[in-house]
Amino acid sequence: MLVAPSILSADFGNLQRDVEDICKSGCDLVHVDVMDGHFVPNLTIGPVVVTAIAKVATKPLDIHLMVKNNTFFVELFAPLKPEYISFHIEEEKHPHRLIQKIRSLGIKPAIVLNPHTPPESVEFLLKDLDMVLLMSVNPGFGGQSFIDSVIDKAARLNKMRNKLNPSCLIEVDGGVNNKNIQSLKDVGVDIVVAGSYVFKHASKEVAIKSLQI
Ligand code: DX5
Ligand code: ZN
Repeated sequence: MLVAPSILSADFGNLQRDVEDICKSGCDLVHVDVMDGHFVPNLTIGPVVVTAIAKVATKPLDIHLMVKNNTFFVELFAPLKPEYISFHIEEEKHPHRLIQKIRSLGIKPAIVLNPHTPPESVEFLLKDLDMVLLMSVNPGFGGQSFIDSVIDKAARLNKMRNKLNPSCLIEVDGGVNNKNIQSLKDVGVDIVVAGSYVFKHASKEVAIKSLQI
């Protein structure tokens, strides 16, 4: 299981320290939550701050867009060469076109599904994707409780991707901790995002290791 700590739970007064800290503590990716105050009722960071993060991160960036104008934000963040850019299917009329655009910029495209969105919504896009991100909380805030129904959903998605595109990874984001990690592993999840669990833990290294099962 790969682990992508979410910098949303970092101390923004000490962002460089916290980004360096999670990278040294053995994380696999750095998860960056971009919120625009429209798609979700919260506003986070733009390219100025993410550029500063990219400069000090020694692990690849995993940019999660929670925005209304996906294409605009893809163009804004593409020069930072993240590993993944993921966008919400609920907010995109032309997902196939945007997948092609992200790939043409040399970035791995991923689609995010809100907790209520069925996995079948990406069935006809799966072969073009590098990753599907399943939200296990309602997007917008860190520190919320894990929604259990994502387990069945991940199991369904796992069957679908094994058939249609085995190299497409499954990521889960929200409320992940050492109590639910095994059930995520059991249904084929490849990457977890963890914000408050990692940043509130006495040792980020121990927290990250406890999820890398
Ligand atoms: C929620 C974000 C998550 C969040 C995870 O909108 O996408 O990445 O920061 O934080 P925890 O792990 O605290 O739920
Ligand atoms: Zn996220």
